[in-house]
Amino acid sequence: MIEELLPSGVTSSEAFDDAAPAPLFPAEAALMAGRRERRRLQFATARACARQALAGLGVGPVAVLPGPGGAPRWPSGVVGSITHCEGYRAAVVAPERVVAAVGIDAEPAGPLPSGVLGLIASPAERAALAALAAADASVPWERVFFSAKEAAYKAWYPATGIWLGFRDAELVLSPAGAFTAVLRPPVPSPVDPVYEGRWLVGRGLVVTAVTRGVPAVLPAARAVAFGSGRV
Ligand SMILES: CC(C)(COP(=O)(O)OP(=O)(O)OC[C@H]1O[C@@H](n2cnc3c(N)ncnc32)[C@H](O)[C@@H]1OP(=O)(O)O)[C@@H](O)C(=O)NCCC(=O)NCCS
Repeated sequence: MIEELLPSGVTSSEAFDDAAPAPLFPAEAALMAGRRERRRLQFATARACARQALAGLGVGPVAVLPGPGGAPRWPSGVVGSITHCEGYRAAVVAPERVVAAVGIDAEPAGPLPSGVLGLIASPAERAALAALAAADASVPWERVFFSAKEAAYKAWYPATGIWLGFRDAELVLSPAGAFTAVLRPPVPSPVDPVYEGRWLVGRGLVVTAVTRGVPAVLPAARAVAFGSGRV
């Protein structure tokens, strides 16, 4: 699923169960010592995805440990992102000369818990979501919205170290499977705050991905697909 959302040059790997967790490097195993079985499996399957995605760039198996703020630390010259939710694990990576940043997120394709939307969306964003729902009630718009903001944050944080609340981002969703997130950090940052992303719903999941710094010249077919839903 995630591959459909990514521009060329970004490699990915995903799993829908924990049937093939990665053998962990000692530092990874130490991190998971004493953690619940569920978290250990989730972590190990995500590492299997990470190593497979890195192999697509020609990078051999390495430990993928959390850095500051929990963001995964990738080999030098590589950017990437990890997500996991019930029934899904994925990792994406790219050379930083291909994209400056990437962020992915997955969520179960259901409604958000009651009361959450009021915390994460502005009145204007809530009005836009209501209009989208009126036009097509089959999409869990609020969950897509939540996931898209998390994907943008995962691309933003490793480059800046700046934490953002959900109200520090303005998100515009397009029914065509795209979105734009404009981040408003509480402190100044030289990093471009605009992230273009894509979303899809399938297999009971919402999956979102953003990138920043995609090269201006894309293969023709990709350029159309990647830019078509821009709002
Ligand atoms: C960090 C956060 C986005 C993770 O999202 P999540 O839905 O809880 O978890 P997911 O399973 O999708 O992703 C977990 C992975 O994200 C990655 N991650 C964790 N913190 C991260 C960070 N600060 N930056 C980038 N990636 C991060 C890790 O790789 C983690 O997996 P791992 O622990 O196995 O390595 C979320 O917990 C959070 O803090 N959100 C608040 C900030 C925010 O989203 N603001 C939105 C406005 S832009």
